[in-house]
Amino acid sequence: EKQGFKHYMLKEIYEQPGVVRTCLEVYLRPEWEPQAPYSPVQLGLAPAVLADLEFIQIVACGTSWHASLVGKYLLEQLANIPTSVQYASEFRYAPPPLLPNTLTIGVTQSGETADTLAALEMELSRRQGLEPPLSARLLGITNRPESTLGQLVPAIIDTHAGIEIGVAATKTFVAQLMAFYLLSLELAWQRQTLGGDRLAELVAGLRQLPAQIELILESQERYIEALSHDFSDTQDFIFLGRGINFPIALEGALKLKEISYIHAEGYPAGEMKHGPIALLDAKVPVVTIAMPGSVFEKVLSNAQEARARDARLIGVTPMAEVEAQHTFDDLLPVPEVDELLSPILTVIPLQLLAYHIAARRGLDVDQPRNLAKSVTVE
Ligand code: M6R
Repeated sequence: EKQGFKHYMLKEIYEQPGVVRTCLEVYLRPEWEPQAPYSPVQLGLAPAVLADLEFIQIVACGTSWHASLVGKYLLEQLANIPTSVQYASEFRYAPPPLLPNTLTIGVTQSGETADTLAALEMELSRRQGLEPPLSARLLGITNRPESTLGQLVPAIIDTHAGIEIGVAATKTFVAQLMAFYLLSLELAWQRQTLGGDRLAELVAGLRQLPAQIELILESQERYIEALSHDFSDTQDFIFLGRGINFPIALEGALKLKEISYIHAEGYPAGEMKHGPIALLDAKVPVVTIAMPGSVFEKVLSNAQEARARDARLIGVTPMAEVEAQHTFDDLLPVPEVDELLSPILTVIPLQLLAYHIAARRGLDVDQPRNLAKSVTVE
């Protein structure tokens, strides 16, 4: 069943190009052109779910919460809709005031996470008696439409990743990112917040992602496996990112914590100097995501601050960037793409790094201690 892979997690990492391809096949109209009088995206949602939105609030836990943070960035930047993301376990006991024309999205790959379900139940109950369009504005993003979530909310985006066995979410995360790209592009089309050319550029960029993920897997796995030997005794890691790649720093840290039991923290790179920099010395590797775009130079200078504290610097960055090559001790190269699409690539080396460090330590990667695949208790 593992098809020759040592662990399900590694198999699922390798399934990611196929997962992205499936999402593109299911949800993008192949014949769409920029001049077409219809959207490039077909999510099959009732019009009332997305019409006239003024605000979006997202609830989720763990890795799904990280995908939602990327989603917030996309919904705000592409569709111009203010969006908040909350931990479901926090939202359920202190939901923010309900604004008119708010869409609430619950993101849960399993569709069974108790806190996320409770947050959505709370949202449903406080919407009781409101006009149908308002009560209809509840959407689930899940890998299991047949789950409890699927029965609770009136609308679903199915992430089509196939069953995920490894406790550490990998392919379902990438599929959730795809759901947010598609939702944001659909809303951008409906609200005309992007020109036809920009929309076409992003659609074309999405279509290239599967081959680009394949390239990262093919070119880097051996190198990352070898690199992982250097961290046999490492006790702490810092992950830095900014903008749309800040949530990927959080995700890289969570993957490492979960399966290797190494303490790891993700930070927005600009926050380093407000405290965490005090942790740095030669024993704490710093993994920095530095993708060309709005914050590239800023991130590099944040990484250089870490270098001044003797930290070993590992960079997730395009190979062609000379300045980045000079900044980092180790490079985990990814293709250069539109900044907005980059999280789906930058997460791949971080998944491989977490996997190989944990596998090298001889740990039970697929069933880490104290963790369950879905957390069905509060
Ligand atoms: O099934 P869900 O997406 O609701 O699960 C949420 C979290 O429990 C889950 O993402 C957890 O953080 C993973 N083990 C992360 O790898």
